[in-house]
Amino acid sequence: MQELHDAFGRRIDYLRISVTDRCNLRCAYCVPPAGVAWKPRSEILSFEEIEQVVRSAVALGMGKVRLTGGEPLVRSDLPHLVRAIARIPGIKEVSLTTNGMLLERLAMPLAEAGLARVNVSFDTLDPVKFHRLTRFGEIERVWRGIEAAERAGLTPIKLNTVVVRGVNDTELCDLARLTLSQAWHVRFIELMPVGNGGDWGEEFPPLGERYVSVQEMLARLAPLGLAPAAATAGNGPARTFRIPGAPGTVGFISPLGEHFCATCNRLRLTADGRLRPCLLLDREVPVREALRLGADITPLIEQAVALKPSGHGLSASSTAAGAGFPQNRVMCQIGG
Ligand code: 5AD
Ligand code: SF4
Repeated sequence: MQELHDAFGRRIDYLRISVTDRCNLRCAYCVPPAGVAWKPRSEILSFEEIEQVVRSAVALGMGKVRLTGGEPLVRSDLPHLVRAIARIPGIKEVSLTTNGMLLERLAMPLAEAGLARVNVSFDTLDPVKFHRLTRFGEIERVWRGIEAAERAGLTPIKLNTVVVRGVNDTELCDLARLTLSQAWHVRFIELMPVGNGGDWGEEFPPLGERYVSVQEMLARLAPLGLAPAAATAGNGPARTFRIPGAPGTVGFISPLGEHFCATCNRLRLTADGRLRPCLLLDREVPVREALRLGADITPLIEQAVALKPSGHGLSASSTAAGAGFPQNRVMCQIGG
């Protein structure tokens, strides 16, 4: 089988597809308070166009697909797309990143369509903070969504927690303790100033104070005696630990850390049909026009892979200033 490698010898086998730029929430770290203008429907790839991109990518040796957004579940009939992708010969896994608000109803249809597992954004156990951070989120509804995903076999379930000082930095032990009773993977993510890098409003600390490093997270979690754990399948760039005896694991993602880029295996497709070689660089290869002309987009995928940089060259110190980060899109337009 064919394999796709970039200029730095990294195997690229993972395509993250943003199926919509729309979202039913407005997480403070992602969307500015006023929201973002949604792209007109005509600019968004159809399911058939997305499927075409996946077919070309699979023929080049990419086998794993993740659907993201915005919020992917607001796109109507998503199970239909999952089924179409899961059926493509050579596809090894289709997964999904969601905020969980619509998961209760959709978990079973998605599993039946061939979805393997889900990552759910889950930043705090406190319903009031949950609502404040997501602006429209209801924690009870997301819980029911997670339970439905578990019942539907969309496992192992991963919870993504973006750590923000003044919001959830004092809850890390409680969140990690979820892994004592559930075989979930809780992953703590360093905040990136992509998306809503400016002022979040008066209930939140200012830009320079919100960031919490993985090092500080580990210090806060010291009482739990975390021990290094073997990496679980599909854990990507997470460093993985376990509370001794726990069925689940605790992971850390440091998007600005060096090892993150060294093991990068992914390419992104934006909802409006652009291949994005790196989350953190404003560099894109348009494929929508070619798709609509019926052209073969294989060379465009190869071009996007060839454009992958060795690293984004951004450091935690640049986060305080927000300097050097993508300006052309906010996070919900890239898909995390
Ligand atoms: N910093 C870090 N992670 C983010 N995500 C969204 N915005 C940010 C940000 N500014 C992550 C969330 C969500 C996923 C889609 O992207 O964890 O689960
Ligand atoms: Fe929506 Fe996800 Fe962005 Fe929150 S982080 S606003 S759920 S796209």
